[in-house]
Amino acid sequence: MIRSIPSTPYAGQKPGTSGLRKKVREFAQANYAENFIQAVIDVVAPAPGATLVIGGDGRYHNRTVIQAAIRIAIANGYGRVLVGQGGILSTPAASHVIRSYGASGALVLSASHNPGGPDEDFGIKYNIANGGPAPEAVTEAIYARTLTIDRWLTVDAPDIDLDRLGDTPVGAGVVSVIDPVADYADLMATLFDFAAIRAAVAAGFTATFDAMHAVTGPYAVEIFERRLGFAAGTVKNRVPLEDFGGHHPDPNRVHAKALFDTMYADDAPDFGAASDGDGDRNLIVGRGCYVTPSDSLAMLAANLHLAPGYAGGVKGIARSMPTSAAADRVAAALGIPAFETPTGWKFFGNLLDAGRITICGEESAGTSSDHVREKDGVWAVLAWLNILAVRGISVAALAREHWATYGRTYYARHDYEALPTEAAAALIADLTARLPALPGTAFGPLHVDLADSFCYVDPVDGATSANQGLRVLFAGGSRIVFRLSGTGTEGATLRVYLERYEPADGALDQDTDAMLAELIAAAEAIAGIARHTGRTQPSVIT
Ligand code: G1P
Ligand code: ZN
Repeated sequence: MIRSIPSTPYAGQKPGTSGLRKKVREFAQANYAENFIQAVIDVVAPAPGATLVIGGDGRYHNRTVIQAAIRIAIANGYGRVLVGQGGILSTPAASHVIRSYGASGALVLSASHNPGGPDEDFGIKYNIANGGPAPEAVTEAIYARTLTIDRWLTVDAPDIDLDRLGDTPVGAGVVSVIDPVADYADLMATLFDFAAIRAAVAAGFTATFDAMHAVTGPYAVEIFERRLGFAAGTVKNRVPLEDFGGHHPDPNRVHAKALFDTMYADDAPDFGAASDGDGDRNLIVGRGCYVTPSDSLAMLAANLHLAPGYAGGVKGIARSMPTSAAADRVAAALGIPAFETPTGWKFFGNLLDAGRITICGEESAGTSSDHVREKDGVWAVLAWLNILAVRGISVAALAREHWATYGRTYYARHDYEALPTEAAAALIADLTARLPALPGTAFGPLHVDLADSFCYVDPVDGATSANQGLRVLFAGGSRIVFRLSGTGTEGATLRVYLERYEPADGALDQDTDAMLAELIAAAEAIAGIARHTGRTQPSVIT
């Protein structure tokens, strides 16, 4: 029996860079999650009998929302709901499940790298039939719907046993609990040279992977330990926990410090990596050698043809605007197009669907290819392992060789978190007003060439996205970008992206902090960060 539950709108259910992300206590309010899920379904209006995928990163509140979402989906006429066992599906695996089962879309329940637990974060994102995040037109329509919603639909049905594989009839449909790992691991085996990696492991190549008690644990154990033969225990923090063991499942220098310590120790393994809460981000560290995500994108693009799934070469490369221009230099050398998109994975979807690019990435530790429509942490790790195994080279040697060919981009992102919203908005408004006067001025040795507010026109469908961050470009290829985060859940977060280019015959082996000092000073002079926010230091540097 389908029941219609009367409801009234909640304010502020506006999907950000990656869906609706709020504190658990907000999501746990009566009708809150239900309203949002119903708004999604009202907007996407699935064909009767359509298939919906549901899965999450296993964080606190995941199972509760999944049970509600199953009933709402069936009540709204979905014929089949595919759920990952235990409520688990990494974000890239969910993307693959949509594509391989011909589903109409997915509800991905995650707050990515944000902490989990009763007092922490939760999130819901809708992905469309191509496997990627819903484009802006869809998320805007969902938001509009949340403002007028007055009911949601459900069926009377008991909770599904999410831990047992198999089909259960629910109302007029069926719920299938599927193995979250198997299909994904099989896909990886078609893309990468598992035999070459296995041979390298047999010859003594060692690695460590930190799953951060998040979703990639089961994927990493199956792929790295079972299929590739890495030693038992290679995968650390392998059991997904609802609160990620009390840590932020964010693979950076702060939250993956243990991995950095391991990789900078005398007895470091050859390769270190980590992924985030929902498995879409990656961190790559060689022995004593951290690879910035911007560099990782460029280095993978330059070598990806060594993986069997990409033997035909790379068709084009896309990067988000704040990501360094390192990948552009590889594209130029390969004679293929380079695209600069706004922050957020959804902007890569059209380029991937149109076959204009093979690989894409963001400075925030996201890298992926046309195999799915999400960033993919385990994919990036396997791409590195494949390249290192085939070339028989260390991470540090590959990086050195890359810089000596294309030049090096020193890079850092400074985040000022939990700022008063008005102060952050005032900084951006003030700087936006002053942008036109910046070209031609100098900050120390840095001469401003161009300053603008980034506006993207999608080359495939012509959709325009304005106000996507403020760019200040200096003569010689260095750059500063200022933008406000679209994923924070507390106040506002200002992100300042600093990038210094050194040509191939320049200073390639310097300390990043020292190389960025002039840019850091220029950022303060240009934006008045301390004046607007009272902060003299960023909260996090990545
Ligand atoms: C952040 C990252 C962005 C990424 C997003 C989702 O968004 O900067 O690259 O796509 O998380 O993982 P932001 O908080 O900057 O809006
Ligand atoms: Zn994530």
